[in-house]
Amino acid sequence: MSTTTDTSALTARFRETFGSAPDGVWQAPGRVNLIGEHTDYNEGFVLPFAIDKTAKVALRVRDDSNVRLLSTFGGHGVVEADLAGLEPGSGEGWARYPLGVAWALQEQGIDIPGFDLLLDSDVPLGAGLSSSHAIECAVITALNEITGAGLGAEQLVIATQRAENVFVGAPTGIMDQSASLRGAKGHAVFLDCQDQHVELVPFDAEASGLVLLVIDTKVSHSHADGGYASRRASCELGAEVLGVRALRDVGLEALEDAAGLLDEITLKRVRHVVTENDRVLQTVEALAATGPASIGALLDASHVSMRDDFEISCPELDIAVDTARANGAIGARMTGGGFGGSAIALTPVGKEQQVRDAVVVAFSEAGFMAPDIFTVTPAAGALRLA
Ligand code: GLA
Repeated sequence: MSTTTDTSALTARFRETFGSAPDGVWQAPGRVNLIGEHTDYNEGFVLPFAIDKTAKVALRVRDDSNVRLLSTFGGHGVVEADLAGLEPGSGEGWARYPLGVAWALQEQGIDIPGFDLLLDSDVPLGAGLSSSHAIECAVITALNEITGAGLGAEQLVIATQRAENVFVGAPTGIMDQSASLRGAKGHAVFLDCQDQHVELVPFDAEASGLVLLVIDTKVSHSHADGGYASRRASCELGAEVLGVRALRDVGLEALEDAAGLLDEITLKRVRHVVTENDRVLQTVEALAATGPASIGALLDASHVSMRDDFEISCPELDIAVDTARANGAIGARMTGGGFGGSAIALTPVGKEQQVRDAVVVAFSEAGFMAPDIFTVTPAAGALRLA
């Protein structure tokens, strides 16, 4: 995947491929989630941020209903489709994301013209950093603008969710696209998934002498597979048995009674969601009161809950987290949907190299693929570049 294509190089490549200049270039970021995992579709709280890795799209409107799509990394040449023939399940690979967004907007009654699109992205694919939403959010921002549809961020979030849920078939929530569309430099996005209320929470690790390391385990995951959907189904069952609309409405104090009503597995799933919602609220408070240095224990507790109660971690993620902690990280957890992808480790600057080296050695000794380790900082949400 290309990592360095700047706006003018992308424009030049577009011109070479499609014969004339694009109408514009838009970008949208991937995300890491600081805390609040599998809480979004339970109408709970999440605290992700937009990262400094983005998908960029150069796009030009056509005067017919055809779509031509090319990426700098796909290797499949130009993908062609007719907007009039789009239906859930159409398209393959990354092309499903732009097509899904166009489909979702059309479903809402917005008239989408055909378009030519060139995509570039440095958000690693399948790393749990929401490369798919980066693409969807860049495309929907472009289409919203060029069609003059004028949808607000909250409506764009719902449209991208429909693209994912119905067109792509991944039963995901609203966290990733909210971070990508609503993120801001230097801030985490504290999102209440019940009403989409957002508060931007300053997150400046550097000022506290820390870095946020991402450890991409290279174990790829897919949310269209069974694990994510079965966790979601358990949560829905738990809510039904407990007589609430969503697990958001179950407080910590209700867990004891819930134990008598739920089967063992459902109780564990519910306990993760209920305690995780509480950890998000505690993290937001701790960040406001004392800053990033005070959230380590919350990150650790979140990982334990995902490992033992929600059971969505994997050996690679556990080794990444344990090794980072043993070598000086003040808190670490897997981030994203689970079953692979990335861990994050909040690490003092002076320990960064030690953590990196130790994780690489631990992976090699365990016979795992070499991980990719890099730092991220909160960056701007989706925007127009040219
Ligand atoms: C994926 C989904 C999100 C969210 C997370 C888990 O990233 O896309 O909606 O459910 O998993 O927190």
